[in-house]
Amino acid sequence: MKVFINIKKLGGAGHTSVKKGKEMSEFHYLENAYMSVSNGKIEDLGLMKDYDAGKFSSYEVVDVKERFVMPGWCDSHTHLVYAASREEEFVDRINGLTYEAIAKRGGGILNSAKKLAAASEDELFQSACERIQSMIAKGTTSLEIKSGYGLSFEGEMKMLRVIKRLKEHFPMIIKSTFLGAHAVPDTFKNNKQGYIDLLTDELMPAIQAEKLADFCDVFCEQNYFNRDETIHILNEAKKFGMIPKVHANQMSSSGGVQAGVACNAISVDHLEYVGDEEISLLKGSNTMPVVLPGAAFFLGLPLPPARKMIDAGLPVAVATDFNPGSSPTSDMNFMVALLCIQYKLNPDEAFNAATINAAYAMDVINETGSLSVGKRADFFITKQIPSTSYIPYSFNENTIDEVYIGGKKAH
Ligand code: NIG
Ligand code: FE
Repeated sequence: MKVFINIKKLGGAGHTSVKKGKEMSEFHYLENAYMSVSNGKIEDLGLMKDYDAGKFSSYEVVDVKERFVMPGWCDSHTHLVYAASREEEFVDRINGLTYEAIAKRGGGILNSAKKLAAASEDELFQSACERIQSMIAKGTTSLEIKSGYGLSFEGEMKMLRVIKRLKEHFPMIIKSTFLGAHAVPDTFKNNKQGYIDLLTDELMPAIQAEKLADFCDVFCEQNYFNRDETIHILNEAKKFGMIPKVHANQMSSSGGVQAGVACNAISVDHLEYVGDEEISLLKGSNTMPVVLPGAAFFLGLPLPPARKMIDAGLPVAVATDFNPGSSPTSDMNFMVALLCIQYKLNPDEAFNAATINAAYAMDVINETGSLSVGKRADFFITKQIPSTSYIPYSFNENTIDEVYIGGKKAH
């Protein structure tokens, strides 16, 4: 049992539900606060003026020394199990090729699939462990990981088994997503329906039998999977206990948002090509719009209309999309900074996007994503900084000192 005292400000205090529209700028702070932790959970929160040292005599006391305590970041969208980086494609794009052109000549997702096929489960596990360790140091305390570089029965099962091992290895919440519908592999080049049948008829039952996936995702995009195929795959996935998600409207108005809302997806992610029609559909749904500023930044895509969605009354969440092709960064602090700098969200809106709303997008809103009594003690302590707005302001500086996951120091 631990009690953290002399917290200059404790952020995200008491949030229990998604923040939408104007509420997104309410990131509740307790000033000059304490927080006690027992059995990995937050037991009590309060102001130092009400702190009763006698009540905590058997606790280990941690003096936060006027630093800030924030809920850990929830990264609801990553592809962090991969075999190799793809900086050669990065250089090709600098020299004028588009992401689509690189994909057409066998680069992109198919390039990662080739490399993944040659890697062992142990190698994939080891490299993923190192990536997660570095994310924890940057304040991420919950995350989601997708398959989608397997693109065959064995490859997808291998990736999902690696994710299962990661879940067992780390103290944080890790959710897994089956993204077999990430691209059509060369083996099914002229038989997309055959590949879709492999996903629904062979992989889904096997995944359910080993309890390997919490969510199912589809890349709904031109040259990948169209709206009707997306709806079909996600409706099948529901029968096998997976909750739908969609890679939607990244390169075009793909119908991904429509597909996601039709299937009651928990989130639709990317959203570069979203207009009034998609915004009004989302307004009548329980689907979280998730923006991935790393991918838009790295590929030079139009910015998803995060500001417009919030002004229309919607919630917005943010994630890294950490992957070797379109977003080779795992830094949620940078995502929060991009939301402020490029998308004109204020810091408190960006913090809500990266914590409570992100927790909803990965179906853990009752367990984490805010500093509330009864939730997991997943949080970070900043360095000595002047304010919490300094976190996105100093966008390339490490402002995080210590990270706790389930009440235990993880960094
Ligand atoms: O979310 N857009 C589809 N999938 C990934 C990119 C995958 C890759 O290029 O390896 C994304 O951006
Ligand atoms: Fe992605």
